[in-house]
Amino acid sequence: MAKEKKYRSSEWYSSKSHRRDTFIHRGWMRNQGHPNHLFDGRPVIGICNTWSELTPCNGHFREIAEHVRRGVYEAGGFPLEFPVFSASESNLRPTAMLFRNLASMDVEEAIRGNPIDGVVLLMGCDKTTPSLLMGAASCDLPTIGVSGGPMLNGQHRGKTIGSGTGVWKLDADLAAGVISEDDFVEAEISMSRSKGHCMTMGTASTMASMVESLGMALPHNAAIPAVDSRRYSNAFLSGKRIVEMVKENLVMSKIITKKSFENAIKVNGAIGGSTNAVIHLAAIAGRMEIDLSLDDWEICGKEIPTLVNLQPSGDYLMEDFYYAGGLPAVIKKLLDKNLLNKESLTVNGKTLEQNNFEAVCWNEEVIRNFDNPITKDGGIKVLRGNIAPDGAILKPSAASKHLMQHTGKAVVFESVEEFHKKIHDPNLDVDENSILVLKNCGPKGYPGMAEVGNMLLPQKLLKKGVRDMIRISDARMSGTAFGTVILHTAPESAVKGPLAAVQNGDEIKIDVDNGIMELLVDEKIILERLKNYKPVLPEITSGYQKMYIDHVNQANKGADLDFLVGRRGTEVKRHSH
Ligand code: FES
Repeated sequence: MAKEKKYRSSEWYSSKSHRRDTFIHRGWMRNQGHPNHLFDGRPVIGICNTWSELTPCNGHFREIAEHVRRGVYEAGGFPLEFPVFSASESNLRPTAMLFRNLASMDVEEAIRGNPIDGVVLLMGCDKTTPSLLMGAASCDLPTIGVSGGPMLNGQHRGKTIGSGTGVWKLDADLAAGVISEDDFVEAEISMSRSKGHCMTMGTASTMASMVESLGMALPHNAAIPAVDSRRYSNAFLSGKRIVEMVKENLVMSKIITKKSFENAIKVNGAIGGSTNAVIHLAAIAGRMEIDLSLDDWEICGKEIPTLVNLQPSGDYLMEDFYYAGGLPAVIKKLLDKNLLNKESLTVNGKTLEQNNFEAVCWNEEVIRNFDNPITKDGGIKVLRGNIAPDGAILKPSAASKHLMQHTGKAVVFESVEEFHKKIHDPNLDVDENSILVLKNCGPKGYPGMAEVGNMLLPQKLLKKGVRDMIRISDARMSGTAFGTVILHTAPESAVKGPLAAVQNGDEIKIDVDNGIMELLVDEKIILERLKNYKPVLPEITSGYQKMYIDHVNQANKGADLDFLVGRRGTEVKRHSH
């Protein structure tokens, strides 16, 4: 039955020197009905599935897996599907991000410990994409990404309505008394009316675009709607391709390089992508031992216009984006301006340029030209200063132009609980020129670094028609959110980063163009305040949370666990039965 030892899985299924082990590995698999020839030394392909009914964005992944499986069989591979921790953005408390690293450990160990030669990653909801990439990166096998695709456009009362973005707007309208509670509830089913993940350019769509621009997926993977038949043929073709990748030994580290990260950062600017990509790409780079810092975002993001007119930065949704040409059309526009590394390799064995040079933009209102961008300088901005020595970030395409140079008085909240208690207090000393500051929501302060940075504005200002103010925190923000929101301030206040020193009434100067965020308080006073500062520390409710808090890195390093950084390969010691 067994041919010569060729792939990693042969150690399990074709070893002649450890016949008893082979019997056990192979024999127990037989209870699923696999015939002899599947154990003949052909590539074993793991289909790493984040399907879960508790992760609604990935609820259709069994169907996607089925199409991957068909492709693997057609190419002569042996597909084996396995489940991993599925981090649901909409259900998991306290925040899905807390579990990104845990899920990545699950993925890494599942791949490392099993007879897998190549792996297909099924990813959709926000954290499922980075967690799978991180885990797979630590192993470095031939790997291909398949996204589940976005939901169809939301349709509500004659208008399109976008996941997340619509919620923030409805919430503000509800708080301002513009709509009723019933109107608010009715919008739910209008927003999520098909399978798939958020259909705004939120974190899920952004990360799917990052996967494609890193070269880790077939062209068009990012934008095809979840219910479009082309999503399933893409899955089929990915299954077929991974078998060839195993034969070519095209491992992940041959595809993801520093240059492909540079491409991804530029694409992020062009699509108006989520700020969460900054953290996730840093974590993936860390696993691959590639040096990627906020400086790279600063350098690569410079003068990249936001071309993609999608919510939250613009008007349209992912379905429109796909019909307009999808990510290949964006990549083509960037390639034409010589902005990308053309030679970067992708999973199909072709370069980024070869994959995209024939791409067509079918709708220049949805994917704009360079002379008509949504935002001229759309790359993520990095701000530094005495509040953020290790940096903070802002997404210009979602921000208000009139707040890009601004000095205002701080209104400080020590915790998210205090924020909720005080924000709508009519006596709160705040006006539209104030700067809202939220502390203790960084990786350690609020384990998982909650998406609370886009703080709701005070009701009394909303009623006046104010819809944006500068907000500063060490938190993250949902990719579907918008506003002049400065995030990921590092080091965070829970480790006595200087954000902790800000007090009510202090003046803060923001100069986005020059990357400056300064607390206009004497340095000695800042040091004195920090010395006496008592962070609001979280209650630890589980063993994993304890491990997370003890080991999580700061935001600028990707908030990975310190001991997970680096590549470890797939060697496992034989354990005789
Ligand atoms: Fe899953 Fe938005 S909640 S992608």
